[in-house]
Amino acid sequence: MTTTAVLAGLGAYLPPRRVSNEELSERFDTSDTWIRSRTGIRQRRWADTGISTGDLAYEAGHRALKSAGLGLGAPIDTVVLATTTPDHPCPATAPDVASRLRLTSAAAFDISAVCSGFVYGLMVAASTIEAGHAERVLLIGAETYSTILNPEDRTTSVIFGDGAGAVLLRSGTPDEPGALLGFELGSDGSQKELICIPAGGSRQRSTYRAPDPGDMYFTMQGKKVFATAVRRMGESSTALLNRVGWSIDSVDHLVGHQANLRILHSLAEQVCIDRQRVVTNIEQVGNTSAASIPLALAHAAAQERFKIGDRLLLTAFGGGLTWGSTVLTWPGITPS
Ligand code: ACO
Repeated sequence: MTTTAVLAGLGAYLPPRRVSNEELSERFDTSDTWIRSRTGIRQRRWADTGISTGDLAYEAGHRALKSAGLGLGAPIDTVVLATTTPDHPCPATAPDVASRLRLTSAAAFDISAVCSGFVYGLMVAASTIEAGHAERVLLIGAETYSTILNPEDRTTSVIFGDGAGAVLLRSGTPDEPGALLGFELGSDGSQKELICIPAGGSRQRSTYRAPDPGDMYFTMQGKKVFATAVRRMGESSTALLNRVGWSIDSVDHLVGHQANLRILHSLAEQVCIDRQRVVTNIEQVGNTSAASIPLALAHAAAQERFKIGDRLLLTAFGGGLTWGSTVLTWPGITPS
């Protein structure tokens, strides 16, 4: 039988500081009513100064190891960290996280696909296992968007939150609960400016001359992104379901990127799945980008929404533009 990546552990970690809509309403010209009605978000977590993406990633990674019955120093071959907010532009954050987890012989690298980063990471991790290059891969999605939000931009400031989620994937077979059964990924770089940090890279170098301070922050043209996000996640989901031979009626849970509750409802309409089968936790955590899907998985698993063998469809959309979907069966693991 072919080798397949199987989900064996799930961990989640949120920084302690809760930021309510009311708190943001004191800082920006906004309101709890606007934020809830336009996005569904009630609160988010922001990391206090001094807490980095790597710190959140370490906590989530450690919990995923524990959920899989492993611990610090476990025999992990590869650590992949999906993030938009690495600790440093150079080096990658994953080797530091791997070292703190005492995974001293693991290959470790970051991947950058913004809010699609976790699904892209699943594809990389699963392919590494399927090719026989690794027995166990730890994949972490971690973000501290609070560090890149423009304090003068009320729209992005109310949407994004910090957090980390992680999964441990092991080598297994496609008939096992937890098996990742297919991927459908895509990108459209011609629309890169819709979600962008303009400065600080090689295009607009901060070492050459001081950039416009606004260009150092995260920017998003939300209205233009909205319809594309729904369409791309919908098309990618449908194409993947067709490829693996699952009807939408056979999908027990749709776990979409938690960008906006209205996007999740529109996506449900587009793919014809009822809202009861759509997992949401955006109300509590906001949009946590690459951490969004593992945090939503951990949230639903902690509420015992998933049964062993349930069919899950995961789909994400983000800057790049990028998008991607994957399907798996639920292994019955307990998140840590
Ligand atoms: N409080 C009050 N009013 C606000 C706020 C706020 N926080 N933010 C914007 N507004 C105002 C705008 O100024 C505008 O006012 P105007 O009509 O007088 O000009 C009005 O509200 C409507 O603004 P829109 O931008 O049209 O608001 P919209 O309903 O589109 O919601 C949002 C904005 C939430 C950003 C939405 O467009 C969205 O979710 N877009 C998709 C985001 C997404 O999917 N991103 C991809 C993944 S994330 C990633 O990759 C990092």
